[in-house]
Amino acid sequence: MPRVTVIGTGYLGLTHAVCLADLGHEVLAIDVDAAKIAKAANGEAPFFEPGLEPLLRKNLDSGRLRFTMSFAEVADFGDVHFLCVGTPEGESGRADLGYVYSAADALAPHLASRCLVVGKSTVPVGTARLVMNRMQAAAPAGREVELAWNPEFLREGFAVQDSLTPDRIVLGVTSGRAEPLLREVYAAPLTAGIPLLVMDLETAELVKVAANAFLATKISFINAMAEVCEQAGADVLALAEALGHDARIGRRFLSPGLGFGGGCLPKDVRAFRATAASLGVDSVVSLLTTVDAVNQGRRDRVAALAREIAGGRLAGQRVAVLGVAFKPNSDDVRDSPSLAVCERLMAEGAVVSVHDPVAMPNAAKRQPDLAYAVSVSAAAERADLVLHLTEWADYRAIDPAALARA
Ligand SMILES: NC(=O)c1ccc[n+]([C@@H]2O[C@H](COP(=O)([O-])OP(=O)(O)OC[C@H]3O[C@@H](n4cnc5c(N)ncnc54)[C@H](O)[C@@H]3O)[C@@H](O)[C@H]2O)c1
Repeated sequence: MPRVTVIGTGYLGLTHAVCLADLGHEVLAIDVDAAKIAKAANGEAPFFEPGLEPLLRKNLDSGRLRFTMSFAEVADFGDVHFLCVGTPEGESGRADLGYVYSAADALAPHLASRCLVVGKSTVPVGTARLVMNRMQAAAPAGREVELAWNPEFLREGFAVQDSLTPDRIVLGVTSGRAEPLLREVYAAPLTAGIPLLVMDLETAELVKVAANAFLATKISFINAMAEVCEQAGADVLALAEALGHDARIGRRFLSPGLGFGGGCLPKDVRAFRATAASLGVDSVVSLLTTVDAVNQGRRDRVAALAREIAGGRLAGQRVAVLGVAFKPNSDDVRDSPSLAVCERLMAEGAVVSVHDPVAMPNAAKRQPDLAYAVSVSAAAERADLVLHLTEWADYRAIDPAALARA
């Protein structure tokens, strides 16, 4: 069985490393963040993800999963190296590829034996070939660097399940060697019948950004319908339900609300728009500009609703906000719609107190000026208004009338 390394142990990389170890592979994972590596090596997930920590411990105990900070050790160990570093939003919405390049630059000079480098990060089309050429130039003389792209579709909150049983596995390859090697890596899900789609590098890169653009468009579509329903006196929930029964449309990603956030959809939509602009594809530029604008508009609309309920002025109003993670079952607050609403309310002089089951430490790093409450009732105490902004199941179970009386 090929020995596997995972470069970058964030939400994607740590989950990938743990799940591959759980499928029986020998896995060595690396990160440049010493605190993350120390925690993971100690059996603690550096972020909240249901089911991940027990699986991390199990595979550390089995000896199949190890952590390091040495790229020389990674190069020496691995037959297949997965690149899982971040690609955050950079200048003018473009993807910042700095982490991808620095990981590739750190690994390439140590590549003494034949191996396959596989990108999993979400990148603009064309990146894989740039990374391949860059690694080739930095690799030891005579060492050929082979690259494949294997985009990841996991959802935070369901990351373990999605990694072990994805809807599909997409491989972008340049030779006949990458596919059989990756078939060995993914032998268990492939045996279980998960579809494998093999294509060129560029198409594989595009599958991921096109999937996220489609999902974001679906969310913004139903949120735009919510605006129509509000003006027309119609019920968007009933509309969504009726639309969703159409098999061509489907019910998922058709819930009106505060819009999308997190470390993927918003930045991927903007990065794809930037790519489309550089390719001169104006239709995609205008489509994604609208998708993003509708999404941002939801945050403004919720702040406006709060202002309306408060009688036209938020200054001095005490607002309790339930949920600050960008979605339930996650502690991720990157581009959190809830946090964005909190900031709008604070900018208008409201006194905002928030509660979240797991995301408050991360939120406090990004927004130290908010008051973080130890419980829902502490957040809601003396509040003029309570906003439920992240759909944690515990919050859905709250009876608003009982909360008002407490
Ligand atoms: N989070 C998700 O749900 C998800 C899903 C699918 C795809 N993706 C994509 O996966 C990629 C990673 O996302 P994430 O959410 O895991 O990000 P993250 O910020 O949680 O993790 C990235 C990790 O890479 C590490 N890193 C940075 N430079 C490094 C280097 N040179 N060498 C080794 N490690 C390095 C960072 O320290 C960090 O731990 C992104 O491209 C993202 O779009 C994420």
